[in-house]
Amino acid sequence: MAAKSGASPHQNEVTPPESGAPPVRGAEPMPTPAAPAPFRPGLEGVPATQSAICDIDGQRGLLTYRGYPLEQLASNSSFLETAHLLIWGQLPTIFQLRDFEREVQMHRRVSFRIRDMMKCFPAGGHPMDALQASAASLGLFYSRRALDDPKYVFDAVVRLIAKIPTMVAAFQLIRKGQDPIQPRDDLAYSANFLYMLTEREPDPVAARIFDSCLILHAEHSLNASTFSARVTASTLTDPYAVVASAVGTLAGPLHGGANEDVLEMLEQIGSVEAVEPWLDQAIKAKKKIMGFGHREYKVKDPRAVILQGLAEDLFLRFGHDPMYEVARRMEAVAAERLGPKGIYPNVDFYSGLVYRKLGIPRDLFTPIFAIARTAGWLAHWREQLGANRIYRPTQIYTGSGERSWLPLENRPAAV
Ligand code: ACO
Repeated sequence: MAAKSGASPHQNEVTPPESGAPPVRGAEPMPTPAAPAPFRPGLEGVPATQSAICDIDGQRGLLTYRGYPLEQLASNSSFLETAHLLIWGQLPTIFQLRDFEREVQMHRRVSFRIRDMMKCFPAGGHPMDALQASAASLGLFYSRRALDDPKYVFDAVVRLIAKIPTMVAAFQLIRKGQDPIQPRDDLAYSANFLYMLTEREPDPVAARIFDSCLILHAEHSLNASTFSARVTASTLTDPYAVVASAVGTLAGPLHGGANEDVLEMLEQIGSVEAVEPWLDQAIKAKKKIMGFGHREYKVKDPRAVILQGLAEDLFLRFGHDPMYEVARRMEAVAAERLGPKGIYPNVDFYSGLVYRKLGIPRDLFTPIFAIARTAGWLAHWREQLGANRIYRPTQIYTGSGERSWLPLENRPAAV
């Protein structure tokens, strides 16, 4: 099986920097084996790949996808157009976009076998676990692993982008004891997802805002779940396993799972007046404040800036949320207390308020993040295949020196 990047059937695509690409900013010569790199917990600051997909300027709060500022994409693009940009490196032509949209629309349905499998999941299970299992199960249906076949690659991209939302919506209805509803071909990507979730055709403004949220969450360079995706991709396994491993990584509360905790925190605080004492107490107890801090950003996350604007748009149209005032007060007080350490709101701080206003249950916030981030994971999957070398870092062994096995009767009693 070749480790070649599958090309899109779209013509004139920009080839990702898979071969002969100049080293990206920050690339350094590898240390010799005699001088191993120093251990950095969490690989902080250690380049683990070269990538042309997304750039972050964490000091100035700037984020670009393939060179396009996120603000421009969030205001003007659609999620599917942005996904195309991320995965194939350029904005699609009108024909490429129509082709991609049509293919995605045609592959939204999932097999009854997957729906039946989901009916066996415990209703009380977390939707991220349901999504991880369902995404992995796609590999049972389509796992040819023809990674050097452009059609296989294109079809895998289309299937994952198309079916992940359907599976998220299906689990939501199944766990309520209802049958999943079929996608509606007359609805665009985001409107159709909201329809499948709520069984009501969404307000066009709500659908547009939701689509912008997907754009904002679509990609963010080598974060934990994307690293997970690239490590899995580097073994040349199938793309369904790549996405399933990334979904599992995204689920953690230090990563995508923080958006659920933010709302819980705001509700626990309860009022604007309670913010300051709550925060002081939390900082004294050395608690991590959910929705704050980021490995890359030392200023307010640009996605949080845009999400805050989207939240305000939603409140104007559908009514205010008192928790927004609590959040704003929290941001102001935290700026005094944590700002000097470079800790500001991240993407998860305002996203929960947006999703709540859209009527989305709290434990679906992270699955929705996964719907969006599937685009980024697939872009990295393709890029990884284009210049693949299996990930195999080293370690610093801290265990016991060599010792001899003892029969049970000769072992000292445990202390
Ligand atoms: N609240 C309070 N203090 C914080 C926070 C926070 N949210 N984040 C970092 N700090 C402090 C740490 O206590 C530490 O202080 P110290 O040097 O005095 O000990 C310092 O800042 C560095 O913190 P680290 O945890 O080492 O920073 P790291 O880069 O490893 O962590 C992370 C980044 C995991 C996002 C962290 O900020 C955090 O846990 N935030 C809360 C969870 C969260 O919102 N996650 C979502 C991130 S965005 C995303 O994944 C989509």
